[in-house]
Amino acid sequence: MTVTQDTTKGIPAGPRWPAWWSTWKFLKSRKETMPKLHAKYGDTFSFKILPGPRTFVIFSDPADVKEIFAADPSQFHAGEGNTILEPVMGSHSLLLTDDDEHKRSRKLLMPAFSGPTMKAYRPLVEAIAKAEVDSWEDGGTLVTLDRMNAITLDVILQVVFGVSDEERLAVLRPKVTKMVNIGAGMLLAWSWPSLYRLPPWRGYFKNQQEVDEILYAEIRERRAAHDLEGRADVLSRLLRAGEDDPDTPPLTDEEMRDELVTLLLAGHETTASALSWTLHELGRNPDLMKRAVEAADSGDEVFLDACLKEAMRVHPVIDFVARTLQSDQVVAGYALPRKVTVTPSIMLSHSREANFADAHEYRPDRFLTQGEVAANTWIPFGGGVRRCIGAAFSLMEGAAVLGEVLRRYEVTADQPSPNRLRNITNVPDDKAPLHLRAR
Ligand code: HEM
Repeated sequence: MTVTQDTTKGIPAGPRWPAWWSTWKFLKSRKETMPKLHAKYGDTFSFKILPGPRTFVIFSDPADVKEIFAADPSQFHAGEGNTILEPVMGSHSLLLTDDDEHKRSRKLLMPAFSGPTMKAYRPLVEAIAKAEVDSWEDGGTLVTLDRMNAITLDVILQVVFGVSDEERLAVLRPKVTKMVNIGAGMLLAWSWPSLYRLPPWRGYFKNQQEVDEILYAEIRERRAAHDLEGRADVLSRLLRAGEDDPDTPPLTDEEMRDELVTLLLAGHETTASALSWTLHELGRNPDLMKRAVEAADSGDEVFLDACLKEAMRVHPVIDFVARTLQSDQVVAGYALPRKVTVTPSIMLSHSREANFADAHEYRPDRFLTQGEVAANTWIPFGGGVRRCIGAAFSLMEGAAVLGEVLRRYEVTADQPSPNRLRNITNVPDDKAPLHLRAR
């Protein structure tokens, strides 16, 4: 008779800090704290996060990351961890839903974000980037994060929402900018609705209502348009999604509004930050800059793409993803109870020496050498059924913008930019200033 030994372990070890302290460390300084905990406890460790407190278990071994991404989404919920964003994104947001609702929305949104569709968006992205680069001056200093934010905002407004009317764009830009600058303090109104009546909450949510009115008007006008099939923007595609599929009812106006705001919040500053870090790294590496401008001139997208991917590795814009267990589960050999949150760490996966040799070094060539980047080690877009729906979009946008910039300018950076955690995105704290030299 074979006797099988139970090899499962309990919740992995971690610091015995009070929950308020580990919550503070996680929210304010995880870039410094996580590597220290990784060095002390290894690839898997746990800590407590308020409210609750809830147990978070961090993973960075690619085999464990793979297991979590491949796990049953009905038992590993991603949406419920994001409910704090509901006052802005709305309850139908792809980021916030789970189970059947998520499955249906994802099915309806997917075609507009598939690889082949990217070609249709590209000319407008290039035109937006070109108009921005045209406004720069030789010898000037570029406040890179601001300028990349301006480009990626217009990409969302024109390519995703499909707004082309210049007057409407001029009204939308400042309102949408105010809307995306939402801090944790503003979201407190979710738990204490009476705050909605007080400044600054009152002003923020009044602005949001105005944006909503414009979006609903845009949705209604577009539904009535006769040229929908000829339009390339994401909203026009979403309005047609599901029309040939009786099992997948199309998105309602309210659902459409929630998805548009989600795409705005998820796709704007993330891509701007990735682009800023890429230009910053190139600005600090003259040899790579030389290769990048040659690549831009010859239309060699492969090298520009590698530069972007390596910047996303060294400076992960989002540094973790989370799945909350709906039932007791064994994950990577650990028996974890219901309600524990399992957290593949993007930051630790990308800085783990076993995953990337000389992990601290910015070396785009890693992405050009067959087999050097193993599966489930480079995970800036998360994974599984919740993998970022805008991944191909942001890589297309990134390569198009880099091409437009580098065909006109070489850039240099004086010093390394420090990282700052802004809400949930990591951005260059000094906005990555760059010197511009016309080519
Ligand atoms: C460099 C740019 C970007 C980064 C680093 C990024 C990163 C991420 C990450 C880490 C997730 C969570 C994945 C998971 O839980 O496994 C995510 C989800 C998502 N992203 Fe992105 N993203 C970027 C750009 C975009 C863009 C351009 C869009 C759309 C225009 C977008 C839309 C979304 C949406 C809708 C989700 C939710 C997907 C779902 O839950 O099914 N993202 N993104």
